[in-house]
Amino acid sequence: MTKERTFVMIKPDAVQRGLVGEIIGRFEKKGVKVVAMKMVSVSKELAEKHYGIHKGKSFFEPTVQYITSSPVVALVLEGKNAIEMVRGMMGETNPQDAAMGTIRGDYGQFIGRNIVHGSDGPDTAEFEINLWFKPEEISSYTRIDEEWFTE
Ligand code: RTP
Ligand code: MG
Repeated sequence: MTKERTFVMIKPDAVQRGLVGEIIGRFEKKGVKVVAMKMVSVSKELAEKHYGIHKGKSFFEPTVQYITSSPVVALVLEGKNAIEMVRGMMGETNPQDAAMGTIRGDYGQFIGRNIVHGSDGPDTAEFEINLWFKPEEISSYTRIDEEWFTE
């Protein structure tokens, strides 16, 4: 099985609203593996690097403000087709457009308070994992139920 890694951030609104366990639980139950996890009080510098691609857009400053307003939980998740699968589980960027059953569809209302972030492609995933985690913070291990998720 080709495994892929993706970066996920549980955003400040979700931490404040007590949704951390719910969100991580969804990934755990899906069988996507948590290989790194930490709480981070995000600096302006880190937020600006993370959202650097959006610099100059109208929502850049508000998004940096939002992400630095309260701690986030940063994760690296691993699994088959993890990048696309996690994006699917998150739903559309705007929670108003996100399908019910997705994280944003079930818990969000506003695009500027959209609960969770996930890398949008292999290059972004690599950039974001390196930006947020040191190599030694990422664990390689086998989950005891892994063979039951694999055909
Ligand atoms: P993310 O990067 O957080 O996973 O979200 P995304 O790929 O689904 O959406 P993206 O276009 O990368 O936007 C990044 C984040 O900026 C905020 N945003 N606000 N007010 C607006 O029009 C607007 N557009 C984007 C959201 O927090 C979005 O997740
Ligand atoms: Mg994005």
